[in-house]
Amino acid sequence: MPPRLHPWPVRLMHWANAIAMIIMILSGWGIYDDYVIIPGLHFSAAFRLGAWAAPSLLWHFAGMWLLAVNGLCYLVYGLVTGRLRQRMLPIRFGELVHTVRDTLHFKIEHNDLTVYNAVQKLLYIVVILAGISQVVTGLLVWKPIQFSAAVALLGGFQAVRVEHFFGMFIIVGFLIVHVALSLLVPQTLWAMLTGGPRLPTHEDLS
Ligand code: HEM
Repeated sequence: MPPRLHPWPVRLMHWANAIAMIIMILSGWGIYDDYVIIPGLHFSAAFRLGAWAAPSLLWHFAGMWLLAVNGLCYLVYGLVTGRLRQRMLPIRFGELVHTVRDTLHFKIEHNDLTVYNAVQKLLYIVVILAGISQVVTGLLVWKPIQFSAAVALLGGFQAVRVEHFFGMFIIVGFLIVHVALSLLVPQTLWAMLTGGPRLPTHEDLS
């Protein structure tokens, strides 16, 4: 029987990642508020995980293990099975322009769930890279002495902190668009919950 669009390991890892990301974002906002980066920018208590910086930090470390281990499993699974390459590459520039134009005209069709459009591919690649960057910069902010060479390479401790904060903005921006699109095209959400259609076999394509 041909595999489904989203085999169960992908679904499990996707939703575990969503939980981990939400923990990381909300606890990160709790830590941030103790020592702000952008003057005047504060996160309301309603959007912070942990009553103040210390408990938020505990949440951040707990979420980090789930994010890092689960993310590593997703990358290894995607690379070993070839799924990442099949689903996210190639990205053609012409198709990218075409999809952006259609989206701006609210033509958001997703008839064939088994193929990601160029914008989706690009956004997924960007968010995967942002996730990797968050784990690396988070590690550097946590252990700046042990990784002093890498910290210096990225511009010093405060610069790494800002880069970590900037990565959060990319992920939150992605999340807003991603969740909005999955609600606009609910069959994609259903597929990410149940596995979706079976992929065409070589015989189907020939
Ligand atoms: C919490 C709310 C979330 C919802 C409702 C959601 C929903 C979905 C849906 C419906 C798809 C399938 C899209 C399609 O088949 O066209 C998908 C795929 C994907 N999502 Fe999410 N997602 C969420 C959180 C996240 C987060 C936090 C990230 C990463 C920061 C993420 C990254 C991805 C990636 C990389 C894919 C492609 C997966 C693959 O095919 O390997 N999602 N998501």
